Amino acid sequence: MVSCEQVLALLAKAFVLITMLPGSEQGAHEKRLLKNLLDEYNILERPVANESEPLEVKFGLTLQQIIDVDEKNQILTTNAWLNLEWNDYNLRWNESEYGGVKDLRITPNKLWKPDVLMYNSADEGFDGTFQTNVVVKHNGSCLYVPPGIFKSTCKIDITWFPFDDQHCDMKFGSWTYDGNQLDLVLNSENGGDLSDFITNGEWYLIGMPGKKNTIVYQCCPEPYVDVTFTIQIRRRTLYYFFNLIVPCVLISSMALLGFTLPPDSGEKLTLGTYFNCIMFMVASSVVLTVVVLNYHHRTADIHEMPQWIKTVFLQWLPWILGMGRPGKKITRKTILMNSRMKELELKERSSKSLLANVLDIDDDFRNVSAGGNNASMTTSLGGGFMRHPTTIEEAAMPSSGTQRDLQHILRELQFITNHMKKADEEAEVISDWKFAAMVVDRFCLIIFTMFTIIATVAVLLSAPHIIVQ
Ligand SMILES: *[C@@H]1O[C@H](CO)[C@@H](O)[C@H](O)[C@H]1NC(C)=O
Ligand SMILES: *[C@@H]1O[C@H](CO)[C@@H](O)[C@H](O)[C@H]1NC(C)=O
Ligand SMILES: *[C@@H]1O[C@H](CO)[C@@H](O)[C@H](O)[C@H]1NC(C)=O
Ligand SMILES: *[C@@H]1O[C@H](CO)[C@@H](O)[C@H](O)[C@H]1NC(C)=O
Ligand SMILES: *[C@@H]1O[C@H](CO)[C@@H](O)[C@H](O)[C@H]1NC(C)=O
Repeated sequence: MVSCEQVLALLAKAFVLITMLPGSEQGAHEKRLLKNLLDEYNILERPVANESEPLEVKFGLTLQQIIDVDEKNQILTTNAWLNLEWNDYNLRWNESEYGGVKDLRITPNKLWKPDVLMYNSADEGFDGTFQTNVVVKHNGSCLYVPPGIFKSTCKIDITWFPFDDQHCDMKFGSWTYDGNQLDLVLNSENGGDLSDFITNGEWYLIGMPGKKNTIVYQCCPEPYVDVTFTIQIRRRTLYYFFNLIVPCVLISSMALLGFTLPPDSGEKLTLGTYFNCIMFMVASSVVLTVVVLNYHHRTADIHEMPQWIKTVFLQWLPWILGMGRPGKKITRKTILMNSRMKELELKERSSKSLLANVLDIDDDFRNVSAGGNNASMTTSLGGGFMRHPTTIEEAAMPSSGTQRDLQHILRELQFITNHMKKADEEAEVISDWKFAAMVVDRFCLIIFTMFTIIATVAVLLSAPHIIVQ
């Protein structure tokens, strides 16, 4: 059981303890201290003991997050904390004289503070920092850590997109003091503080080195000091690899597959409408597919095969690509023989062909019948079934009935031979065109495969780096 008196005694003890705590009188001490410190304080005064010495300000940057990399407007948006440390000669006190008060938090508009700004700011308000309190210690050391959203201009070079690295500077310096009055010093040799950095999904942070620059301009003797941090980021390619590069490669390989389809399947052209990535390649593949289809469906009535197409698509290209046709072997020998045959054919055409000879006989026959026997005409006969001179002699016998029959038979014979010959020629021309279409297809397949492989390898190899996790 706890009695009422015991409870009262405990409460009394607690009261005594609370009132005896060392901080209990701090309110009064702090009030007096603030009064003594700030009554005489002038925030315009540079707080140094010796006016001819510069005030040293230790400067640092803590990067929290990369919020946005705006390639179009060339702006990098970051969340960062500045870190400013200096010693204020006018803010010192003996802690034992003020009840052990070691430090104070004072709003920055009551104190002198270095006017350090980011030079390459693209912010509407220029300075995007939040004015936090300054922590002042009894020996005068001041610590000011304003957080802020910084919008800095950055020259973004997307030549190697999506395999690109970007280097974005953040240049800090005093806006009005020169190096003889305010000396900025990096607070860490390693540059920016990245211990709190939140990783970015699109960008991999390589590092953030910092550098102090001291520049003396020709006009003025005093140095100008700035501290520049460089945010080095590398684009994560995995996203683009799966969303850009892989589809491109797949689509271009589909363009290649189009050339292996037989033209009769009718899918060649529809396949050509898929592609939108490798515009040049796709466009030319469609054009060539149309050429192939056009060749494939050509007939002898409408299209004669020009000599150059015969030479290129029926002889040289198939020979180079190692293509053959049933019954027609293509080697260098056959190509050379073919051209020699053509020369002979041309020569032969200038002399009399078989059918022309038949016609001549017909004419001669009539002439003979009208003007008497002329044996010399047998000498002009070329060949075939008319070769035997006696047949002609018999046919040349002056008898009007047999003469007309013979004439008739000859005409019919001529017609049938003509027709058969024409059909043969047409079939050959059609098969020639089909073969030419096949050759163009094969040629395109090889050229486009080479183009795709070379282009893909060249692009991937020429990039400075390929994959960042
Ligand atoms: C102030 O500093 C300058 C240069 O460091 C020195 O020459 C001068 O003696 C100093 N004055 C005092 C009062 O300490
Ligand atoms: C602080 O004040 C106490 C008492 O007034 C004195 O003994 C001590 O030397 C002072 N310390 C300094 C650093 O001035
Ligand atoms: C001021 O005192 C703190 C400890 O209270 C110490 O860390 C700091 O170095 C001192 N600064 C100077 C300039 O003496
Ligand atoms: C054969 O007769 C025709 C007329 O019937 C004549 O035009 C032609 O010149 C003659 N041919 C010869 C070789 O005499
Ligand atoms: C036969 O015809 C040729 C021309 O075709 C002529 O030169 C020759 O004199 C003719 N012979 C006779 C016997 O008519």
